[in-house]
Amino acid sequence: MPPPCDRVWTHARIATFCEDAGREGMDVIEGGAVGVRGGAICYVGSARHAPDAVEVIDCAGRWITPGLIDCHTHLVHGGDRAAEFGMRLSGASYEEIARAGGGIVSTMRATRAASEDELVASALPRLDALMAEGVTTVEVKSGYGLDFQNEMKMLRAARRLGEARSVSVATTFLGAHALPPEWARDADGYMDGLIAMLPQVAPLADAVDGFCEGIGFSPAQIGRLFDAAKRLGLPVKLHAEQLSNLHGAELAARHGALSADHLEHLDEAGVAAMASAGTVAVLLPGAFYFMRDTQVPPVDALRRAGVPMALATDCNPGTSPLTSLLLAMNMGATLFRLTVEECLAGVTREAARALGLIDRVGTLAVGKSCDLAIWDIEQPAELVYRMGYNPLHARVWRGK
Ligand code: NIG
Ligand code: FE
Repeated sequence: MPPPCDRVWTHARIATFCEDAGREGMDVIEGGAVGVRGGAICYVGSARHAPDAVEVIDCAGRWITPGLIDCHTHLVHGGDRAAEFGMRLSGASYEEIARAGGGIVSTMRATRAASEDELVASALPRLDALMAEGVTTVEVKSGYGLDFQNEMKMLRAARRLGEARSVSVATTFLGAHALPPEWARDADGYMDGLIAMLPQVAPLADAVDGFCEGIGFSPAQIGRLFDAAKRLGLPVKLHAEQLSNLHGAELAARHGALSADHLEHLDEAGVAAMASAGTVAVLLPGAFYFMRDTQVPPVDALRRAGVPMALATDCNPGTSPLTSLLLAMNMGATLFRLTVEECLAGVTREAARALGLIDRVGTLAVGKSCDLAIWDIEQPAELVYRMGYNPLHARVWRGK
């Protein structure tokens, strides 16, 4: 009889983040073991009762957490916006730069000019930086092509990242990111076009997203997009309440959105709507920091209402050129006052929820993908507390 497990990691301290651990709980197993069979977790529990395995790996007391999940990135894009950074340092605002034809539209030009191969090649170092810190699932948005051909090119490039590396990639169609210059006078017409392309986009996209903002799209326009997504069975999410309060989060919640993201200007009604819909609040402290924003998202209200909170890098060239989920956790704690447990759950269990993947990843439970991060730390708080230090010992994706 072959041993029941392909591989067992033993003598570990395990934070499972299992779903009944409660929002403040990590569910710690001292002297624990994790076993894998066929890429899925087949055992989590005391090392003493661990099943036999073909290979046994001694973790020597190290910590194991679920592989980290970056649930909001714009990893695929052409060029950078370093020059714009300089302009902002001299006093120009993000909105002023956008209205003057810079911002998202300047990255659109660079992205349209890049081939699919070039987009993959330029995104890989950013992906590698995330993976080096234990990321095993990453969401990647389109949104810098802003026409059918180029949005499809971005989504194909995003999917190819998951073939080039041992990482799970979730793709999101963000055609409603900004109005391209050729549609400058007709946002409704552009939205009609996005809705018309959805059936062809759907096979390449796991979700549909939009930017609901004065410099983005109105709630009415986003509502039409969401209705069309729903007809195709595509989950939705939204960049909402980043720069102002257009009640995008309420709209998203009404459409049963997986998540509403940013949320600096979210109000009580938005919090209540998200709570009743189970919409995850994805907090993006990297963008908050890089924009030198002063309006903090209403973390206390979200917490009191029981809204699940996730944390992500928002890695993008304009507002958050951040490729460290560990640093995003530190910023979540220092800038947004999240607890250590909330930060850690925010890049594991709640991030999985924000992607609609909670049945497959985000916690250590039998049947889920065996995606692990093994850390050289004495306690999980170190993952949040340090800045610019990476204590990853090993990363396991699908049991390898
Ligand atoms: O998540 N807010 C809109 N989208 C991005 C920024 C994109 C950009 O400036 O290139 C964000 O912050
Ligand atoms: Fe974003």
